[in-house]
Amino acid sequence: MEDIRIISVCSQKGGSGKSAITAWLANSLCREGKRVLVLDADGQRTIAKLRGREVDRLGEPEKACEVMATDDVATVLDERYEDFDVIFLDLPRMTGPDEAVMALTFCDSILVPIRLGDSDVLSAFEFIKAAKKMGDIRRERGFDFNIFGVQNFRQPNLRENNDINRYAEMLDITIFDNALPNRADFMRVGTIDCPSDYSSIAEVYKAFYQEFKQRYQIT
Ligand SMILES: Nc1ncnc2c1ncn2[C@@H]1O[C@H](COP(=O)(O)OP(=O)(O)OP(=O)(O)O)[C@@H](O)[C@H]1O
Ligand SMILES: [Mg+2]
Repeated sequence: MEDIRIISVCSQKGGSGKSAITAWLANSLCREGKRVLVLDADGQRTIAKLRGREVDRLGEPEKACEVMATDDVATVLDERYEDFDVIFLDLPRMTGPDEAVMALTFCDSILVPIRLGDSDVLSAFEFIKAAKKMGDIRRERGFDFNIFGVQNFRQPNLRENNDINRYAEMLDITIFDNALPNRADFMRVGTIDCPSDYSSIAEVYKAFYQEFKQRYQIT
């Protein structure tokens, strides 16, 4: 907890589940008493808009993470860093060495959602190579930088599911043991509730959440 404060669920791929996973993890940690901020730095403002709609519908939530939309990540971190135990940075999909990729230098760790299938894994590989360069910059400054992968939208009984170890080796990163299945219910998860609210998917998502906390040393 002391070490990993700023996390980004990020990738090169649109619609890979970055924002959904971010909102879910942030709220789950918040419910356990952590002080959590989601910095929505994606121009689409997916998380901020969703939250706004939920607040209109349900009122200001009691136990939900703080959500802040910004294009100036550095300033917000400067001003608010000490107010939170964990800060999630929701970034747009990243295709090159642009500003969004630069934002990775703020992160202690990134979690990259990967869909199985060769073309996806190959582009994840390119992205992770760029992310590692950012990690090098951090290390030169004396900070850690962890990269984890997560299989999102996993479907049972696909032959390619067995390729995951080869991919992990190729990407030279640790891939979470627990994959996130492709579940229609997950599409409904907002920024106030958590998949544990949905009895139909609670179990499958719980194991992933536990692994997340363990790998990020969040107690
Ligand atoms: N495992 C899953 N099963 C089913 N639906 C999912 C899963 N993961 C994400 N989704 C859904 O897929 C859609 C796209 O996810 P999300 O907006 O989180 O992707 P994103 O990577 O943030 O996209 P963008 O690149 O546009 O920011 C959302 O409706 C989300 O709820
Ligand atoms: Mg998003």
